[in-house]
Amino acid sequence: MRRKLVAGNWKMHGTLQKNAVLLEEVRRGVSGLGCEVAVCPPYPYLGQAQSILAGSAVGLGAQSVSEHAFGAYTGEVSAAMLLEFGCRYVLVGHSERRALHGETDAQVAAKFEAARNAGLVPILCVGETLAERQAGRTESVVAGQLSAILDRFGVAAMAAAVVAYEPVWAIGTGITASPAQAQAVHAAIRARVAARDAEVADGLRILYGGSVKPQNAVELFGQADIDGGLIGGAALVADDFLNICLAANR
Ligand code: PGA
Repeated sequence: MRRKLVAGNWKMHGTLQKNAVLLEEVRRGVSGLGCEVAVCPPYPYLGQAQSILAGSAVGLGAQSVSEHAFGAYTGEVSAAMLLEFGCRYVLVGHSERRALHGETDAQVAAKFEAARNAGLVPILCVGETLAERQAGRTESVVAGQLSAILDRFGVAAMAAAVVAYEPVWAIGTGITASPAQAQAVHAAIRARVAARDAEVADGLRILYGGSVKPQNAVELFGQADIDGGLIGGAALVADDFLNICLAANR
C-alpha cells in the first residue's frame, strides 16, 4: 500500500508574517493524519519553516535545486544547502521552470540526480500542454519526460523518488483534469516504469497536480494510481490545504 503524499507548492508567494500563521495552522491541522504532508516555500523562508515545523509531521521541500554541488552559479541553491535547512523533498522540472526558465529534460535529469545524490527525494514533475493534449500527444510527451530519467539513471533511480503528473493546462487555471483523464495518465506512467521493474512501479508514488481543491480532491485521490497531490493555489489557504490533506487520508 502506497502512503499518500500531499505537497504544497507555494510558488513565489508568502511573507514572514503570513507564513507564520499558515505554517502553524498546517502543523496543528495535520497531526494524527495517516497521509504524509509537505510544504515547499520559497528558498528564503526555508529556515522559518524549518523552525516552525520542527518536531511536527509536516515535511519540508524546496521548489527547485541546482544541478551543481557548489561554485560560481549566481542565484543558485545546492542540494546540500537544502538539506541543511531540513528539506526532505525538492520539486524538479516543474512546468513553470521548464517553460519560463528554459529547463530542458537533460537539465531536469541533472537536478534530479543532484537531489538524489544528496539524499533528497526528488518530485519529478511531468505533464503536457493543451496543444500537446489536443494533438493526442499526452502519453508520448509524458513518456519522454520520464525517459529522460529512466534512460540516463535506470529504473532504480525511481525507487527513492516521487512523480507528479501536472497537465500544464490545469495549473492555476481552475480547470482540473477529470479523475478519469488523470487516472489514465497515472496508469500509463506506472506501466512505463513497470515495464522496467514491477516492484519499483508498485511502490512509486504518483501525485496529481493542477487546480486541486477540497471539492475535487476526494474523487481524484480515490483513483487507483493517484497517490496524493501537488497543490499550488489551494496550499496558501490553510483550510483548503488541510481539507485536501483530509481527502488523502480516507
Ligand atoms: P495549482 O498549481 O494547484 O495552483 O494549479 C499546481 C502546481 O503548479 O504545482
